Amino acid sequence: MEPTTLSEIEDPWVRVRHVFLPSTPIREEARLVGRSEQVERVRRELRSPGRSVFIFGERGVGKTSLAQTVAFTEDDTDNDPAIVSCYQADFSQLITRVVRHLMALPYYQSTLKKKVLELKLGGAVGHILHRVETQPTEMVRVEPIYAVELLKSVAPANKTAVVVVDEMDQASSQLRRDLAHFVKQTGDEDCPIKFIFTGIANDVDELLEAHQSASRSVATVRLERLLLGDLVRILDSGFGVVDLGVADLLKRRIALMSDGFAYFTHLLGLKLAERALDAEVTEVNEGLMDGAIEDAVADIEVQLKRPYELAVRKYHDRYETLLWALADHWQLERSSKEIWRSYLGVCQKRFSQQGLVFRAPNETKDEPSEEALDESQEDLDDDGLEPRDGLMVLTKQQFRQAVHRLKQTAYGEILESPQRGWYRFRFSMMRGYCRLMAARHGISVGLKYLDTHNNLVDLERL
Ligand SMILES: Nc1ncnc2c1ncn2[C@@H]1O[C@H](COP(=O)(O)OP(=O)(O)OP(=O)(O)O)[C@@H](O)[C@H]1O
Ligand SMILES: [Mg+2]
Repeated sequence: MEPTTLSEIEDPWVRVRHVFLPSTPIREEARLVGRSEQVERVRRELRSPGRSVFIFGERGVGKTSLAQTVAFTEDDTDNDPAIVSCYQADFSQLITRVVRHLMALPYYQSTLKKKVLELKLGGAVGHILHRVETQPTEMVRVEPIYAVELLKSVAPANKTAVVVVDEMDQASSQLRRDLAHFVKQTGDEDCPIKFIFTGIANDVDELLEAHQSASRSVATVRLERLLLGDLVRILDSGFGVVDLGVADLLKRRIALMSDGFAYFTHLLGLKLAERALDAEVTEVNEGLMDGAIEDAVADIEVQLKRPYELAVRKYHDRYETLLWALADHWQLERSSKEIWRSYLGVCQKRFSQQGLVFRAPNETKDEPSEEALDESQEDLDDDGLEPRDGLMVLTKQQFRQAVHRLKQTAYGEILESPQRGWYRFRFSMMRGYCRLMAARHGISVGLKYLDTHNNLVDLERL
């Protein structure tokens, strides 16, 4: 018999993979940390007639996990909720999948099916239904205008069926238009099936702008990054399951590196626990942590690895130090001046790591304008700068040029500039990856953070 609960899994190598889930969304409320308010809110909204919910937030922040957790608890059809992705799908495919899912439920099989057949539903909806039923492997064309009526005809009575429409940020423009129309219909026609959408902020605007009345049918729930304490809780429960002792300071370092994204916490937690199992120890030390970081970097998802590689491809040493400097603060948006200060700080750390004395490069007064930077194709290799003791340091002018270049596609579009002279990572998650890469080279960045009372805490000094 398959083990059902964690305690029934005897093999610790298997158990640890059930608690640390870097690539699997959470589905159980007990394991979804720091989201109780949002769970309640989504639940409340879903229970209002004709209301859907749109969960939005940055990449990797936990949208699918929240959507699935609520869907699994609110759906009481004795089957899993339907989960469909907008990736490479069109509206007909999405709705056909949902309708087939509902038709497979026992309620439909025992009662509705007969009713639908008896009624021999006429018109377009009856026709679509007939095709969905008789051609179970074929795609059936469904116009958005008929979608709600179609869903109504197969919805189980006195039961709540929940559907997650995931990754709207991956939807084609046609699918977005169709979904905007559909969302309005669900409200107007009081659709009994409950929909939870996930996507990014732009998707919500698009959805709501397409039909003004759509905002009445869909509640929006914004997800922020998780707090440091929440990430520590993920580690506490994970390490607890495999009886592994890990110092509080180490857990906080992992949480800081994770930068609000549970993905990194699960990944580092898993790798650390596996290293400990391998070494057959019950207390974790710094040496194991270094190995865990190495393993985590090797396994990092390609969406993070690729832009980083593009950014450092050409001027490896110099740009990599710059990326770590960019990650060395709790604020997401930073001025070029502040980044420069961090950059010098990180250079200093790298020099002292090698027992060398660091002298900041001379600053030139004439700084290039943004326009000049745009046009500048000057190659940094042509500047005659020699590596200093094997470590390359950017001059201030080169630094500004480098920061500017990191906005370009050829450099992975790592940065964006919300206003002149200010920069932030295009995907916040990249900051955690940069911290991880710095840690891999023995450089700690971003160890200052705000605690829940807005006090600045410096872990490096603890
Ligand atoms: N509240 C949470 N508690 C514990 N783990 C979480 C939580 N939220 C997310 N995670 C974990 O973080 C990872 C990313 O979560 P999820 O896939 O839900 O994010 P997402 O916002 O949907 O990402 P994407 O934008 O890539 O679709 C998963 O491994 C998941 O298990
Ligand atoms: Mg997701």
